[in-house]
Amino acid sequence: MARKKIALIGSGMIGGTLAHLAAKKEMGDVVLFDIAEGLPQGKALDLSQCGPVEGFDAKVTGTNDYKDIAGADVVIVTAGVPRKPGMSRDDLLGINLKVMKAVGEGIRDNCPDAFVICITNPLDAMVWALREFSGLPHNKVVGMAGVLDSARFATFLAWEFDVSVKDVNAFVLGGHGDTMVPVLSYSTINGIPVADMAKIKGVDEGRLDEIVKRTRGGGGEIVGLLKTGSAYYAPATSAIAMAEAYLGDQKRILPVAAYVDGKYGLDGLYVGVPAMIGADGIEDVIEIDLSDEEAANLKVSTDAVEELLVACKQLDETLA
Ligand code: APR
Repeated sequence: MARKKIALIGSGMIGGTLAHLAAKKEMGDVVLFDIAEGLPQGKALDLSQCGPVEGFDAKVTGTNDYKDIAGADVVIVTAGVPRKPGMSRDDLLGINLKVMKAVGEGIRDNCPDAFVICITNPLDAMVWALREFSGLPHNKVVGMAGVLDSARFATFLAWEFDVSVKDVNAFVLGGHGDTMVPVLSYSTINGIPVADMAKIKGVDEGRLDEIVKRTRGGGGEIVGLLKTGSAYYAPATSAIAMAEAYLGDQKRILPVAAYVDGKYGLDGLYVGVPAMIGADGIEDVIEIDLSDEEAANLKVSTDAVEELLVACKQLDETLA
C-alpha cells in the first residue's frame, strides 16, 4: 500500500513541529509548503536528518509549489500572519483571508479529496473561509481549537487537583478565543464530575472560575511569555491527534471547529463542538444538553463568530 501523504501549508513554528511529529509517527510522507523560499526546504532537510537517529523512513520534502501537494490525504493549514502590535482585528482578518483564498484554491486544484485541518487564526472564521474558497465538502474541512483548549483546561485541572492528566477529561465548546466555553458539567476526573472532585479536594468555586478564565486566556498567556510568537507544541500535537483519527478511522469524539447546520440552533456556522472523526472526516456532530448558563455563554461565543463572518464577507465580496 502506498504511503499516506501529509501536506503542511505553512512551515513556520507550528508547521515545523507538525512535520516532526508526523514523520516520527510514520503517519506518511510529509510535504512542507510555504511562500517563503528556502524555509520549507531547509526545515525538510533538517527534519530528514532526524530520520537516521529516530529511525523513521518518512520522506520529508519542502516546496513553494502547490503542485507538490497533489494527492495529499491530509492537509494541515497554519499559513498566515500573527496579529502584530498596532494591527486591528480587521487588518489581520483581511491579510489571513487572502492567505485562505490562495490556500483554498491550491487545495481545490491539487488534493480535493484531502481531509483539511485549519489552525490559522482567527480560527472559526478562517476555517469557514477556507472551506468556501476550496469548495470541499463541509465534512472534510475542520478547524483545530477545541482539542488544544481542552488540553489546556485539562492541564490546569490536573495541576489543581494534583492528579494525572491521563485521568482528566475536560471539555471546551464554542469559538476559539476569549469567548470559548469551558464546560465544567461535562468535565470529569476519570468519571468523577469536576464539581464533586472540587468538594473532595476542598477547591472552591472561585478557584474553578479562575481555571476557566485561565483556559480562556491560555493562548495569550503563552504569547505574553514568548513575546515573539505564539504556542506551537500543543497546537501541533492537537492537530496530529485529529489527523490520526481520520487516517485510522478511529471514530474519536473530539472537540473541534466543525460545520454546524441545524444542531445547537445554528445555521451553517463553524464553531467548536464535540464531533466524531473517522474515515469520512467529520462523521457526526454531537449535540449535548447545556445548562442555561452554558447555553448563554455558547450564544455569546457563536455571536462573536458570526460577527467575524460578516466582516469576512465585507472584505471579500465572493464570500457574500
Ligand atoms: N501561503 C503559504 N504560507 C504562508 C502564506 C501563504 N500565503 N502566508 C504566510 N505563510 C507562512 C509564513 O511564511 C510562515 O512561515 O505561514 C507561516 C506561519 O508560521 P509562523 O509565523 O511561525 O506561525 P505559527 O506559530 O506556525 O502559527 C500559524 O496558527 O495558531 C495559529 O495564530 C496562529 O495564525 C497563526 C498560525
